[in-house]
Amino acid sequence: MMLQRSSDFERILFDEETIQRRLKGLAREILDKYHGRELVWLTVMKGADNSSRDLRRELVELSFLTYGSLAVDLIQDQVIMSLYSNPDNPQKGPTTILGLDPEIDYRWKDVLIVEDIVDRGWTLYHLKKHLGEKSPASIEICSLLSKPSKREVELEVDYLGFEVGDFFVVGYGLDLEQKYRDLPFIGVLKEEVWEGRKKK
Ligand code: IMP
Ligand code: MG
Repeated sequence: MMLQRSSDFERILFDEETIQRRLKGLAREILDKYHGRELVWLTVMKGADNSSRDLRRELVELSFLTYGSLAVDLIQDQVIMSLYSNPDNPQKGPTTILGLDPEIDYRWKDVLIVEDIVDRGWTLYHLKKHLGEKSPASIEICSLLSKPSKREVELEVDYLGFEVGDFFVVGYGLDLEQKYRDLPFIGVLKEEVWEGRKKK
């Protein structure tokens, strides 16, 4: 067993307080846009699980403070995206798209995709295309992180937590080989930790 320690990190980019404060800001933006409306809240698993849950909690809290009720009529869905399942074209997909609830009718609905990080952009490019075929009224994107320097396909992030540079980050949903998702902060691992994990 390998421990997941703070000392595995080279540096912390966003600590818990910074992340939670930013989520409050995003919740405000989303509430301002969608109050009085129905919204399909589509969480991209597993990376956005943590941030999506905390963001929804902030949204609900803010909504009760502002309107005395949950003013966004939320419908929850989730999806698992895997980019690397096509051996002929591992770079660009097509991705496998699993887990969308077949009982949710996307026609004429507003959809918010909630993602952990937009890197090259292909994951959300494929998801948007797939959802588009279901004829929703609109699709917007909320992502905790974005690496604009890595983008290969044009994609607008409507609600963005933070921009990051071109390095691999883990924590708060983001993983290295499925580890580190439950740490409340986001950072960069030490080179030796990264190398050690990758070999396993
Ligand atoms: P894209 O299709 O290149 O935009 O890839 C996005 C997906 O790659 C994200 O949903 C993450 O699962 C993963 N990913 C990209 N960069 C990182 C990172 O720095 N840390 C952890 N996962 C990442
Ligand atoms: Mg993701």
